[in-house]
Amino acid sequence: MGNRIAVISDIHANLEALQEVLTHIGNQSVDGVVCLGDIVGYNADPSACVNLCREWGVFCLMGNHDAAVCGKISLADFNDAALKAIQWTRIHLSKEDLLFLNRLPRFHREYDKYLLVHGSLIDPDRYIFFQEDVEKDFEEMLRTYPKNFIAFFGHTHQRKVYSYYRETVFSGMPEDFRLEPLKRYFINPGSVGQPRDHSPLASYLVFDEDERQITFHRVVYDVRKAAEKVMKAGLPRSLAERLYRGW
Ligand SMILES: [Fe+2]
Repeated sequence: MGNRIAVISDIHANLEALQEVLTHIGNQSVDGVVCLGDIVGYNADPSACVNLCREWGVFCLMGNHDAAVCGKISLADFNDAALKAIQWTRIHLSKEDLLFLNRLPRFHREYDKYLLVHGSLIDPDRYIFFQEDVEKDFEEMLRTYPKNFIAFFGHTHQRKVYSYYRETVFSGMPEDFRLEPLKRYFINPGSVGQPRDHSPLASYLVFDEDERQITFHRVVYDVRKAAEKVMKAGLPRSLAERLYRGW
């Protein structure tokens, strides 16, 4: 994968956001791009987003929306709007797109360098929202992957940094920082296609392993165009509106 990577997550079929993020990444001299899952769902360009990820050789995980579209997990936990989008997405993907999504891994360990997961190490569909959620994940990291000190996760659509040292969890600000030796980390890059931290801007990060540096980025994209496509597709209006609010 190389020593300098861009970490993106939760694209959610937002082509306008993905294009701008990839263009931005193009200027960051990275060796590769990884995606923590949810390429599809919610927005109106699932096939184009799958194809753009393939063109760019993005290493992708399978998120819960990707899994749901492929019929791999129960739909019971999805709300109404998400469910409608999953059903819409199923009929707007080619056989090839579905095959691609179907084969994605739910978890990845890049040697001792880092772990990639959509939601949590305990369950890829579990949310890490609070400190008590991430405590269990640090315990799992220590127990199962003791040589790994860094994990990247998505699913909540919110930038986040948690660190762990001497059995204590710290909730850090999602700002640029240098990884400290002996500390363990869970880091969320935020969402490309449906940010939920009150900013409509697309979010991602760059991890430079040699410099041990995490740099967050926010990228302007044509929110109106993406939202109008959602409406035109007949997807729930709430999915278009939330793009403007970043929630
Ligand atoms: Fe998601």
